[in-house]
Amino acid sequence: LPTPGTVEFKNVSFGYPGAEAPVLNDISFTAKPGQTTAIIGSTGAGKTTLLNLIPRLYDATEGEILIGGVPLAELGRDTISRNISAVPQRPYLFSGTIGSNLRFGAQNATEEELWEALKVAQADGFVAEREGQLDSKISQGGTNVSGGQRQRLCIARALAAKPSTYLFDDSFSALDVNTDARLRAALAEPTKDAAVIIVAQRVSTITGADQILVLDHGEIVARGTHEQLLETSETYQEIVAS
Ligand code: CTP
Ligand code: MG
Repeated sequence: LPTPGTVEFKNVSFGYPGAEAPVLNDISFTAKPGQTTAIIGSTGAGKTTLLNLIPRLYDATEGEILIGGVPLAELGRDTISRNISAVPQRPYLFSGTIGSNLRFGAQNATEEELWEALKVAQADGFVAEREGQLDSKISQGGTNVSGGQRQRLCIARALAAKPSTYLFDDSFSALDVNTDARLRAALAEPTKDAAVIIVAQRVSTITGADQILVLDHGEIVARGTHEQLLETSETYQEIVAS
């Protein structure tokens, strides 16, 4: 990529096929490498939909999304998947081993690199305790690990791929507040050159973000840092108070 990481939305609107009303309306923002862009807003606001447009799970109905200045349509699916790691809202593990799950998107990663990713994701402890460790079996859908463990394994998988863009959809919500804080502190170094976009439920997860976008009914109704939004946005104040 020419300018790795920079994700730019230009007047993007989107409606699901067959639906009458658009789910996203005239969304514009730039997520820069080395910065964290957070998206917050009530359930159904369109946060997941917005993230899903970036790896082209759907294409924008209007407007344009660019990565490194290049429109998504010109990048090709391979380049997109090599450069973007997405941790979905309902993280998914395949039947196989912990190692094979982590290597999805990082086939050549060494065991050392996998442990490094697990450490950042605060998942090294419980993996080390499992019989077989990286070779320990994961059942279809990851039903033999807890929701929070599944979330952390998916975060480790995203890290192992070393992408230029990270998309975290509500990835820290199943973690207790302390683990959430430790994990985000640990993420700083491996993601320092990447564009990080985080959808969050908890305000404490995103108070340090470089920019926060407040999404309401598919529109960005306010943007700024935590401090700025506390001053300027009623919607944000309501979210903080809730
Ligand atoms: N939607 C839809 N078809 C889909 C997915 C979502 O019609 N396949 C609709 C939802 O019903 C909702 C809107 O699109 O009205 C936005 O959904 P979503 O992006 O999932 O909202 P989030 O902000 O991610 O909500 P949550 O906080 O609950 O994850
Ligand atoms: Mg969602």
